[in-house]
Amino acid sequence: MSERPRVWVSQPLFADVLARLGEHFEVEATREVTRHEPAAVNAILRRMDGALVTLNDPIGAEQIAGAQRLRAIANVGVGYNNLDIAALSAAGILASNTPDVLTETTADFGFALMMAAARRMSEAERWLRDGHWQRWSFDSLLGADVHGATLAILGMGRIGQAIARRATGFGMRTLYHNRSRLPAAVEAECKAQYVGFDELLARADHLVLVLPYSPQSHHLIDAAALAKLQPHATLTNIARGGIVDEDALCDALEHDRLGAAGLDVYEGEPRLNPRLLQQRRVVLTPHIASGSLATRRAMVALAVDNLIAALGFGPRAGDPPSPINGGTRDRGPGTRI
Ligand code: DGY
Repeated sequence: MSERPRVWVSQPLFADVLARLGEHFEVEATREVTRHEPAAVNAILRRMDGALVTLNDPIGAEQIAGAQRLRAIANVGVGYNNLDIAALSAAGILASNTPDVLTETTADFGFALMMAAARRMSEAERWLRDGHWQRWSFDSLLGADVHGATLAILGMGRIGQAIARRATGFGMRTLYHNRSRLPAAVEAECKAQYVGFDELLARADHLVLVLPYSPQSHHLIDAAALAKLQPHATLTNIARGGIVDEDALCDALEHDRLGAAGLDVYEGEPRLNPRLLQQRRVVLTPHIASGSLATRRAMVALAVDNLIAALGFGPRAGDPPSPINGGTRDRGPGTRI
């Protein structure tokens, strides 16, 4: 009997969802959340035919060097800036991600974070817990309205569109900017108007970032971009931390050049820029936008489907549902999220 392919699972995920891997492969699963060193990953991948990894696991030339058997990397996450797609493609390794299954959950969270920032919810709760509430007062902790305001979405992929659809229920005016303009029918369904980058910033009451992280979007929201926002505007980031220059953001908040911020992602997370922790008008959450139980399970299930199919098994053998490279739906870097 020929040897079964071997796959590695880089972090503890839902064991019952992962169990399907065992129907086809020898599975080596990491039992505790681990910060794997590149050399350790390389030693493992040299023995593997495939791997299922998370955004905590960078996979590039160093990790795959000499990994002759390796044919597939399944990323659990729609964003895949942890993968060096050029290096994987050059080595003939099929990479996949988990779009679609997290869209609505992530949009729910983005909208909630934007509202929490606008209405100063974290600040108000800290104030209350710290015992400051002596009597009801007419003018304490006044926030900005969300209903009827102008929502500005930067990055109008699946999640951006889902946020725009939510905004219609709040009577918001939605503007968006994206690498490419959406078809008229999609714009009409989202009730969203395409504008240039500068106009988006200038007109935003609430700016939400939902674009992929890439060298082009690194620190796209820097001091110059922040200066284009209205001083009452809020900034919400559910994309990747590196898109925002966090020191420039702190400067803007400290000098009242920005109303508030809601952040779920950070440059260098889980390490936080200490200045962010000092800001009153920010809501900070630990990268949980896609974190409902059902959605996280669905993400792992899709990654499992991708790995099984990429290694030539199951009903979609050779045709994984969501390939990034070398597949039937090659979307290249900067894919929409
Ligand atoms: C994603 O899917 O990219 C989220 O950030 C969580 O991984």
